[in-house]
Amino acid sequence: MLRIEMVKKLLLLTSVMKMFDKHFRVKTSNTYYQKDNALLILEDSFKALPKMKAKSVDLIFADPPYFLSNGGISVSGGKQVSVNKASWDEGFSLKEKHAFNRRWIRMCKRVLKDNGTLWVSGTLHNIYFVGYALEQEGFKILNNITWEKSNPPPNLACRSFTHSTETVLWARKDEKKIKHIFNYKLMKSINDNKQMKDVWRGSLTKKSEKSFGKHPTQKPEYLLERIILASTNEGDVILDPFNGSATTGVVAIRNKRHYIGIDNVEEYLELSKRRLENEYKKL
Ligand SMILES: C[S@@+](CC[C@H](N)C(=O)[O-])C[C@H]1O[C@@H](n2cnc3c(N)ncnc32)[C@H](O)[C@@H]1O
Repeated sequence: MLRIEMVKKLLLLTSVMKMFDKHFRVKTSNTYYQKDNALLILEDSFKALPKMKAKSVDLIFADPPYFLSNGGISVSGGKQVSVNKASWDEGFSLKEKHAFNRRWIRMCKRVLKDNGTLWVSGTLHNIYFVGYALEQEGFKILNNITWEKSNPPPNLACRSFTHSTETVLWARKDEKKIKHIFNYKLMKSINDNKQMKDVWRGSLTKKSEKSFGKHPTQKPEYLLERIILASTNEGDVILDPFNGSATTGVVAIRNKRHYIGIDNVEEYLELSKRRLENEYKKL
């Protein structure tokens, strides 16, 4: 019995090492969690991304800091709350925001395969900077997806319209001859056989998706589900350099993709680990 367990462990370790070796060219001691087709790295992305192999991932989903933690107020669960998310979300100067975005986008471009694509989500606080930086770094924007929240928090100040949308930019390398992956027929088939539009409507992240702990900006799973199904195939490798609670990872594993998540906050990776473990139990 003990021997079978040991063999199982050894096999698991080898498959994980294969995944690590396949995607990282430098050994890092910062592997926080590894299992089958998932890898979580506890490190600043600016340090971890250069250690990855060039052109080794098929898709990148990035939900970078929005820089909106400015001391304002909002509503959550019927209560007045601060809009401040965490220190990683506090304001930078315009120049710093732009430099931050250009830098991680450049690093991501190096690890992305030529036919791979990059998705970036954001709000008015950062998405225009991101769009500009994408073009400067040699990406072509394929779509500007508007995620319309069906149940947005009310606008307490009543000095402008209720904020009820976020934007997700979808981009590919600006190299003409290479075809990127787009599962057009699948998107059409899950949309009553009509072409899928660039406005996606749905609720804020459900409570049931937060049962393993809270992350201040956790994305709903249905959003990542559509992104992953639209632009990858089974067995593809997905990277999220701002992993958060690993929503991208949970949906990737569910859909038989490989996942690499990077975050520099241990508490979030612990939450991610619990979510991924739960997903593996369901497979
Ligand atoms: C907007 S949240 C991502 C939320 C995620 N999409 C989810 O569904 O849970 C951004 C995350 O990026 C992480 N982060 C910010 N700067 C980072 C950096 N330089 N390197 C690695 N992670 C970073 C934060 O800790 C935070 O968890």
